[in-house]
Amino acid sequence: MVAEASRRGFLRSVGIAGGAGMLYSAMGALGLAPVPEARAEAYRAPRNGDFELTGRSRKKVLVLGGGIAGLATAYELGKAGYDCRILEAKDRPGGRNWTVRGGTTLTDLDGRTQKGSFSKGQYMNAGPARLPQSHVTLEYCRELGVPLEVFTNQNANAYIYHEKSAALAGKPIRWRTAKADVHGYVSELLAKATDQGALDKELTAADKEGLIAFLQNFGAIKGKADGFAYTGSDRRGYSVEPGAGFEEGTVLGPVPSLSDVVASGVGQRFSFEFGYDQAMLMFQPVGGMDAIPYALAKAIGQDRITYGAKAMEVKNLPDGAEVTYEDAEGRIRTRRADFVVAAIPPMVMARIKHNLGADVTAALKYPTATPVGKIGLEYRSRWWETDEHIYGGITPTDTDLATIWYPSYGYQGRRGTLIGYYNFGDNAVAYSDLPHAERLKRAVSRGVKIHGDKYRTELDQSFSVAWHRTPHIEAGWVGWPSQTGPEYKLLNQPAGHVYFAGDWLSHVIAWQHGAFTSARKVVTGIHERVMAG
Ligand code: PHE
Repeated sequence: MVAEASRRGFLRSVGIAGGAGMLYSAMGALGLAPVPEARAEAYRAPRNGDFELTGRSRKKVLVLGGGIAGLATAYELGKAGYDCRILEAKDRPGGRNWTVRGGTTLTDLDGRTQKGSFSKGQYMNAGPARLPQSHVTLEYCRELGVPLEVFTNQNANAYIYHEKSAALAGKPIRWRTAKADVHGYVSELLAKATDQGALDKELTAADKEGLIAFLQNFGAIKGKADGFAYTGSDRRGYSVEPGAGFEEGTVLGPVPSLSDVVASGVGQRFSFEFGYDQAMLMFQPVGGMDAIPYALAKAIGQDRITYGAKAMEVKNLPDGAEVTYEDAEGRIRTRRADFVVAAIPPMVMARIKHNLGADVTAALKYPTATPVGKIGLEYRSRWWETDEHIYGGITPTDTDLATIWYPSYGYQGRRGTLIGYYNFGDNAVAYSDLPHAERLKRAVSRGVKIHGDKYRTELDQSFSVAWHRTPHIEAGWVGWPSQTGPEYKLLNQPAGHVYFAGDWLSHVIAWQHGAFTSARKVVTGIHERVMAG
């Protein structure tokens, strides 16, 4: 009774200080309510009634950039009836959210042109390709009616390929095999150490018993009588699959030595899937990631988006802001609005003439561009499924292609499209320095080492993207030397009537979630200012 009363008192005081949300999670901590997962910061979209109810006039907003941040800004402000217009330099919405299909063309900054010739139904997501369950991107997909399917980020049947390792080099190893061996040997060692008393300072007798029980289960190791030895298990996979009658199957062997398993470095790949953003399940829009920008563009109204519009100058004015741009026909035009939202990459914005001050230019130049490349390889057959039993997932390598991705759509179909490299930094530059045909040759020569000749002989079409060489984009993403310094702070505030938005102004860089939440932040800032004015 006493406990009950004080518990209620505690909950009441938490409720007063922290509001209902805090009360609810405190109840969760006490086991009284399910603990809700962390949510994106509470967001209230501007509403249709906001202008009518307060008798204010609808404001005009000019958005530079029709990538996810720019589209989301216009979409959210549009909910309250703001008069928004987007100026987009390219001929399509989405920015880096881009799906390449048959007929897609790309001319790089250096003038090299590619035309996609993928077959009907085949595509590659050249930019974002995987959505974690925690990201607001999924909420937008729900709101916009964009259907989702699972994206396989982790597959026990995909490989780990290390050719520079001190042991087992040049042998593709299935994830399941690598895990069985690493978990097995680590369990053996820890069980032995525990049993021999090496950890007696840390563990009680009951702890030791519990830990050993865990390790036997986790590592599939032998019992105490057999020295807790790891000698392999069917978790490694089979060289002959078990089947009917007397076919017991043959477990894949031989099991490499502990020393070779450690030296192979395969265990250092495991933590990838522990990452908050990379853990399964993950999702993708059905038919291509660009379903998101096209749905946003439709909801905003196509007539509100001007394509082929290249911003030349941004001017903050005492009572608004102004943008001068070159339109698709090469005419110079100027548009005025109450607010401008610059939702373009910082290094691109830094080169546009403006009157926002030298410190703004310096801050825009402060983050550094990350080179990122991807190649899509269309095959005449889905040999990774038929011959290797790999249905989606990723093979990481220590070669310059970094990773090979197997498609998470079109299973069992006739054709399929792999990602033949997805790399950043120096590796991305090494490929992008080459013309497309040479990039392809190089990528295929690496892939053959993992998958054999069919990697070359079954190949049909290909398309490669170097984001750092793509006009109006110029990077896969940016990195800040510091996100606690004055530069990041400055650009997260309006410069007069000019706001900045983009994933680069978030702590979720290189994800659409960063772009959506940055847009929401700017929308909230503008709307509060308008409603207070
Ligand atoms: N979102 C991108 C991806 O998943 C880039 C990225 C990679 C971001 C790794 C964070 C960590 O590939």
